[in-house]
Amino acid sequence: MTVTYDELRNLWLDFFKSKQHAAIPSASVLPENDATVLFTTAGMQPLVPYLMGEKHPAGNRLANIQKCIRTNDIGEVGDHCHLTFFEMMGNWSLGDYFKNEMIAWSFEFLTQKLGFKKEQLAVTCFAGDANAPKDEEAAAAWRAQGLQDNQIFFTTEDNWWGLADGGPCGPDSEMYIDGGKPACGPNCNPTCSCGKYTEVWNDVFMQYLKKPDGSLESLSHKNVDTGMGLERTLAFLNGEGDVFMTEIFEDCRLKLEEISGKKYVENLVPFRKILDHLRTAVFVLGDDRGIPPSNTDQGYVLRRLIRIAIRNLKKLEVNDFVLPKLAECVVEKYKKYYPELERNKHFIMDELEKEEQLFNRTITAGLKEMEKVLARVQNGQIDGQTAFHLYDTYGFPLEFTQEMAAEHNVKVDTDGFNKCYEAHQELSRKGAEQKFKGGLADHSEKSAHYHTATHIMQAILRQMFGTTVMQKGSNITPERMRFDFSFDRKMTPEELQYLEEKVNEVIGQKIPVTCEEKTLAEAQAEGALGLFTHKYDAEKVKVYTIGTVSKEVCGGPHATNTGDLGHFRILKEESSSAGVRRIKAVLE
Ligand code: SER
Repeated sequence: MTVTYDELRNLWLDFFKSKQHAAIPSASVLPENDATVLFTTAGMQPLVPYLMGEKHPAGNRLANIQKCIRTNDIGEVGDHCHLTFFEMMGNWSLGDYFKNEMIAWSFEFLTQKLGFKKEQLAVTCFAGDANAPKDEEAAAAWRAQGLQDNQIFFTTEDNWWGLADGGPCGPDSEMYIDGGKPACGPNCNPTCSCGKYTEVWNDVFMQYLKKPDGSLESLSHKNVDTGMGLERTLAFLNGEGDVFMTEIFEDCRLKLEEISGKKYVENLVPFRKILDHLRTAVFVLGDDRGIPPSNTDQGYVLRRLIRIAIRNLKKLEVNDFVLPKLAECVVEKYKKYYPELERNKHFIMDELEKEEQLFNRTITAGLKEMEKVLARVQNGQIDGQTAFHLYDTYGFPLEFTQEMAAEHNVKVDTDGFNKCYEAHQELSRKGAEQKFKGGLADHSEKSAHYHTATHIMQAILRQMFGTTVMQKGSNITPERMRFDFSFDRKMTPEELQYLEEKVNEVIGQKIPVTCEEKTLAEAQAEGALGLFTHKYDAEKVKVYTIGTVSKEVCGGPHATNTGDLGHFRILKEESSSAGVRRIKAVLE
């Protein structure tokens, strides 16, 4: 069965619409109001408040196709299926249907919509451990669909899904396609890596709540959270098995062959790294919350990806600046579903070009230095100080040095590197790495107060400087808020004082913060602030109103009354990027 990218997307959304699901848009790939993660890693992540019991405006049955980035796989990219960016097709039950319905629908979708034969399927179910029992229910549901016992495997590995910091969690059942290769041995099962089985889908049954002491409690509100990898499924359906051979990458792959004069099939690893990393970079830059390359957090990941792509271009003997040309193919391919890429195209192209120029100044000298380092390496390891020197002087991110070292079977002392790095950076890199691992979105009361403070501050800034002032980003932790907005000059001390006083005045007025659900069109008609980029009309949004001060479309959560916020104090006002100012403030 040959399926196109468009068809696969439609098959997914239409199937779940036929099961009364509302199609919701993909959230930003840069999480909003969540300082615990750098990128959106799964469709469920922006839905955490709803999985915890908050009512979703679109109902109890949701489906979407979410832009995701998982950077822990950076080093794996180069084979036929690992990607740093991917689209996750997902569906959710928020306390509605559960295991039996979901397994029956999974079977129906795989066999009737995607055309897999029942005999090709293999599934895993949770084998049970000290905390939770064996998932016999899921296995019975698969048997009810006609799967034989030799197609149902019980494991504990990869059969539990939850967030690092607790919250809703439960056993999952993963679905694999048996490609027909002989078993690699008597213990061959879907979780082994012999290549017989390819994972396509994961059904998570969130039936427990993990408490702070680690114990589990049964949830009265049981959820389903599923995710299917779009690229892998497409590759499998079309028989190539290689995600880079799907139509998704076709234009970019052919462009790279044309530019380099080299063939993909003869240069698999550099081609794959360039194609993957560039696509991810385009989605980070092209997001409506997009950020430029930098030395911290998301910007640092972006910088690593772009620089690794540049080095792999050099491996293909491409020394011209070609990233924007390749990026053009990515924008063209995706703009129909992600119009933000077209909207932010200039930013994408400018930043890629700037980064290419910046790195070009040091990469040649750095590569020479690297040759010397490799020649004098002892005990098969580059010490941390040297790795830091390569970073600091030549702009070689750690992963970049590691990649080159690995080609010579040499390791890098990462702890040593981190020590040097931490000594030189105000922001600990380890702290940033921590955020890749994901975690429960921060919904503490204090953070809710900070969210409300950003709304008040934005309203006052617009009163002061006019409606061209718009929020460009925010980052909130329970300790402080950071708020970026469009404005083209430094604020004066008097203006800052006025702003602070006005925000405190609104706090002093003890105004109730109210929330209503509306369609986007209604919200827009009422003049609510927000990004009106959603694609699905059925989608309802939350509109938070603070008296006559502010009205904004926002996911929340918020304070219930401005009087709860405490005293607002501005710590700093500075430039964030061209035409964007940043205010750091605290509530005391
Ligand atoms: N959250 C689950 C996963 O990422 C299902 O979407 O696999």
